[in-house]
Amino acid sequence: MLQSPVDQTSSYPAEPAISTKSFGAEAARLRRRPHVVVVGNHKGGSGKSTIAMHIIVALLKSGKRVASIDLDLNQQTLTHYLENRRVWAQQNNLSLELPDHHSITDDRADRIHWDDPTDFAWFTNQLEMIDGEGNCDFIVIDTPGGVQHLSLVAHSMADTLVTPINDSLVDLDVIIAIGPSKDLEPQPSRYARTVSRALEGRRSVCGRPTDWIVVRNRLAPLASHNQRHVSDLLELVHAKLGIRIARGLSERVVFREFFAQGLTAFDPMDERVLGSKPSPTNVIARSEVRTLVEQIGLLSRQLQPAHAPTLPRAEVPAVATAS
Ligand SMILES: Nc1ncnc2c1ncn2[C@@H]1O[C@H](COP(=O)(O)OP(=O)(O)OP(=O)(O)O)[C@@H](O)[C@H]1O
Ligand SMILES: [Mg+2]
Repeated sequence: MLQSPVDQTSSYPAEPAISTKSFGAEAARLRRRPHVVVVGNHKGGSGKSTIAMHIIVALLKSGKRVASIDLDLNQQTLTHYLENRRVWAQQNNLSLELPDHHSITDDRADRIHWDDPTDFAWFTNQLEMIDGEGNCDFIVIDTPGGVQHLSLVAHSMADTLVTPINDSLVDLDVIIAIGPSKDLEPQPSRYARTVSRALEGRRSVCGRPTDWIVVRNRLAPLASHNQRHVSDLLELVHAKLGIRIARGLSERVVFREFFAQGLTAFDPMDERVLGSKPSPTNVIARSEVRTLVEQIGLLSRQLQPAHAPTLPRAEVPAVATAS
């Protein structure tokens, strides 16, 4: 049985602490198991569920076997998104890919107990159950905003951790402590320190590093002082935290509209699928998300079957102009 990488003696509100307790006994199994992608940020509304959904569909369309987990008991956005997709496909006789989806249905997601050693074991059991037959290449986990023990445990399981942030100093403050003085060196915030320690603990024990990518979301179409400021700060801190930065998605109405039908920018852009005429914005959005998925790097992994279909290519170059 795995032991928790979360230090059971600490309490989160004082100082979250991550220890390097043993992943050892299960190290071999960890090396064999599916690639775990966690989409996480304690800040709410940063685009976690939207980006998780796009990663899932991108992987499915590339021929990967994908399971998904929704850890957000309260909102269940990813679960509803996927359910909308299933119903829309059924109603319109469409063939839309779906992952093997699991959502949290008990009270675990609501607990903020840092002295509960069962969460880690419970979580690894869930992963084992999901990959019971070894039929899965990727497990994509959408986490809730806010501080939850189970969410931190999920972070510590990530082979790839994707952290979307809205392109604003307020949201960046979750990663880097933002203050009025320009003279001080930017420091990682509590969320960043907590996650860093969890990832370092996992790496030192089981030898699997985590690829942590901060994805900028809802970028304004026109370059602004704010955008440059956010870029500069991320540039200053990324080496210290060991993160990669991806220029993610622009602010586009289409990303909000997709939800009702459970669609993504990767789905076929014809009227029958979309339920309305496709617009140039759909094409630009596809190009942008495709670039993001490539930057995250999941599709270049060795799991990719030799004859897997490639991601749908965008019909136009990735020029972010329309919203
Ligand atoms: N690039 C984008 N352009 C426009 N709207 C977006 C974009 N990304 C996300 N949104 C919208 O922002 C809101 C928050 O997105 P989402 O639910 O994906 O965030 P979240 O981080 O999962 O939120 P929570 O923390 O509440 O789970 C939603 O209304 C979503 O449609
Ligand atoms: Mg969400």
